[in-house]
Amino acid sequence: MVNVPGNLDLIEAPTKEPERQLFYIERCKELLAASGQMTDEKKLTYHISTFGCQMNFRDSEKLAGVLESIGYERVESEKADLVLYNTCTVRENASTRVYGRIGYVGKIKKEKNPSMVIGICGCMMQEPDEVEKMKKSYSFIDIIFGTHNSYKIAELLYTLLMNRKAKEKNPSLKTHVIDVQKEATGIVEDLPVRYDSTFRAGVNIMYGCDNFCTYCIVPYVRGRERSRKSCDIIREVEELASRGVKEIMLLGQNVNSYGKGLDEDITFAALLDKLSDIKGIKRIRFMTSHPKDLSDDLISVMSRKETICRHIHLPLQSGSSRLLKKMNRHYTREDYLTLVGKLRAAMPDIAITTDIIVGFPGETEEDFKETLEVCEEVSFDSAFTFIYSKRTGTPAAAFPDQVPEDIVKERFDRLLKVVAHSSAANASKLVGKDVDVLVETVGHSLEGGEASDGRTPETGDDAVTALTGRLGNNLLVHFEGRKSLVGEIVRVHIDECKDFYYLGSLCVLD
Ligand code: 5AD
Ligand code: SF4
Repeated sequence: MVNVPGNLDLIEAPTKEPERQLFYIERCKELLAASGQMTDEKKLTYHISTFGCQMNFRDSEKLAGVLESIGYERVESEKADLVLYNTCTVRENASTRVYGRIGYVGKIKKEKNPSMVIGICGCMMQEPDEVEKMKKSYSFIDIIFGTHNSYKIAELLYTLLMNRKAKEKNPSLKTHVIDVQKEATGIVEDLPVRYDSTFRAGVNIMYGCDNFCTYCIVPYVRGRERSRKSCDIIREVEELASRGVKEIMLLGQNVNSYGKGLDEDITFAALLDKLSDIKGIKRIRFMTSHPKDLSDDLISVMSRKETICRHIHLPLQSGSSRLLKKMNRHYTREDYLTLVGKLRAAMPDIAITTDIIVGFPGETEEDFKETLEVCEEVSFDSAFTFIYSKRTGTPAAAFPDQVPEDIVKERFDRLLKVVAHSSAANASKLVGKDVDVLVETVGHSLEGGEASDGRTPETGDDAVTALTGRLGNNLLVHFEGRKSLVGEIVRVHIDECKDFYYLGSLCVLD
């Protein structure tokens, strides 16, 4: 038996969640205090680097919530006592970037802080080959876990700390903790969360994806689709509203299929309708919408409710029906255009953004031209354009006719030009108008976001300064105003369009 302060190991951990993790939060606190690592004067620090999509950023807020409950303090630098990498694997370059950072942090641990805890989690760790590579080549990594059990961070950290204690007596013991769950079990609610913002929050409404688009690794690493109960979502949004949050982003890989598999009879449109009535929430956004599941009810609720932003992210992926079939997308070019027509008929001012993949196996010049045509016809407000990346284990990785790199690059550049043209043309339509803006940050940031620690800046000196805010169409505007406006919705006159952002002036500057 390991010598634990106060014989904590005799207390049995609850088997139910979240009670079990709350138990381990307390155990970590006691263990770190008893070993003298964490005292009232000396705090331990943590750093989380997040790669990838909004889902991962949301997971990192949860990881941070647990670490702060244990007593860790957040720092921006990787020179911390605990460093976590929350990884992405959707395209190859995301994985490559992670490896670069791990090499860097390994050096810091070796040279500056051998007792540092290094953890790696997220989508990449759901791939057995990646876990093997980490184990073999990066022995300094202490904790490895995946997307399905990231709620267990307190338990995993406790296990590591106990292993390290045991190693003091028996140096031949291995300390690292590897816990990757192949499949998701239930959804764990009610653990502490450290929100990155005081006025904006992401809210998970569902996890996983059942679509199996042939190029995509997500269904393999995020598991099957699971919706949260509507009462849990509503409770969370009410709680956020009571803390002053103005804007929520509903998150799911395919929000339009929300509700499938739940005992209650609910759709995404019905959920949105309910959430839009919650007092205090001024803006609701959601992503991502799959075109095959976008219902007339959703269009109707979006056009009726003012709090729902007139913006939809609707991945096209390709404008060729032939390729869409090979991608397993379950819609044709015509279906997509019909959907856009319906959205615009109901909401002429709606901003439509998209994702497009260039160089999917077998993409011909004809297929690509069809993608350009759809882009011209839809006139997207913006598009995330991706070069196809071969993901081992997906059906498309084994497709013949992978497109040569030089052809893909050339097509990619042509696509960028078409998209840049429509984005600028759409954006310029708002010049001369007064619009509602959520003030996000002091300074003229093109990223938006908030002050460096992610919190609203101190408002001691409330002189007029440069501010950045976000419009309903998701574009940013720079204008002058008081710092205290950060987190508020204000009316701004759009003076000038700089293609993908605006310059404006506050309508009432006191
Ligand atoms: N290669 C390139 N882009 C991809 N995406 C998903 N998988 C791949 C891949 N293998 C893109 C899709 C998706 C977005 C999140 O990432 O466009 O909508
Ligand atoms: Fe990937 Fe398709 Fe699921 Fe989106 S809908 S996460 S692209 S499989």
